[in-house]
Amino acid sequence: MKRFLLFLLTLVVAASVFAGGRQAASSSKGLVGVVMPTRSEERWNKDGNAVKEGLEKLGYAVDLQFSDDDIPTQLNQIDNMITNGVKVLVIASIDGSSLGTQLENARAAKIPVISYDRLLMQSPNVDYYVSFDNYKVGRQMGQILVNGLKLDNPPKRPINLELFAGSPDDNNSVGFYQGAIDVLKPYMDSGLVRVPSGQIERTVIGTLRWDAAEAQKRMENLLSRYYSGDVILDGILSPYDPISLSCLEACKAVGYGSTAGKPLPLVGGQDCIVASVKSIMQGDQYATVLKDTRSLGAATVELVDKILNGQTITGLDTSSYPNGATVNGRAYVVPSLLLDSVIVTKDNVQKDVIDTGYHTRAELGL
Ligand code: BGC
Repeated sequence: MKRFLLFLLTLVVAASVFAGGRQAASSSKGLVGVVMPTRSEERWNKDGNAVKEGLEKLGYAVDLQFSDDDIPTQLNQIDNMITNGVKVLVIASIDGSSLGTQLENARAAKIPVISYDRLLMQSPNVDYYVSFDNYKVGRQMGQILVNGLKLDNPPKRPINLELFAGSPDDNNSVGFYQGAIDVLKPYMDSGLVRVPSGQIERTVIGTLRWDAAEAQKRMENLLSRYYSGDVILDGILSPYDPISLSCLEACKAVGYGSTAGKPLPLVGGQDCIVASVKSIMQGDQYATVLKDTRSLGAATVELVDKILNGQTITGLDTSSYPNGATVNGRAYVVPSLLLDSVIVTKDNVQKDVIDTGYHTRAELGL
């Protein structure tokens, strides 16, 4: 009986969600489905809200879903959105290669798909990609180390670096890594920069789901295995602010920053999260890369609106992002809109973070 009641309740809830979606859609210019990977990271909340608010201002109804980094949940959300008749799908994937069936169904239902920030891989059924120039972001990550460690004004002894990369199932990790390595390689080749662990390949230094706790454990292991006696860690390549902060924690725990001759290693990052900007202001983290989620949201809103109004989309990059699929025997390159990113250090927090309203002084505790 209890089970039957539960079943009935589920049916009623499902029917009302469905009807709600339809109703919202019918009193608006149409329903747009937006899926983001997780609420647990600052940026995806900002991204999701920016897209939702922008589209609602233009009169669209928006179904915005987060999936706690759980792939089956994300696939279900997309299935439901297709059933509910969304007009466009905006997808920031968890695993970029896992959505083949959903993308095929979207194409069959003539629903245009925008790959948001992370490239949807191995499928020709992806209409547009809106992101930052991820290779350039990677170069900025490398440049942060070159600037901060003054590698062009060579120090008297070799510099010890350890390297971290992002999630192996996120294509952005490839661009970030390649860009950073291209900048650092000449210094590694000349012997000025060493990686005492020898762990350099992206697959070896990757961090599944960008998990900062996993990165912290790896940092602890590296420190205990490769840094004893007078071998001091000078810098860390980090692709993501929470990883930067957890690596700094691991270093502090073994005396970096509080022992003579052991300053905190120089660390960059990405995403310009509040905790990292605070750390930068305190002089712990050295820098981060700011990718303004508001601009990405606005570019996406404009793109959705143009698609639904049948307008021509201009300014597309048609060479940078092949996604591994083939169409008529040729590599499929996803037409992309790519935005610019900015390196943030203590020197430009005011100008690029506070004056632009990305974070307020109050949020930063200033
Ligand atoms: C995004 C980064 C983000 C990371 C972890 C990447 O795909 O480009 O901005 O830090 O995912 O969520």
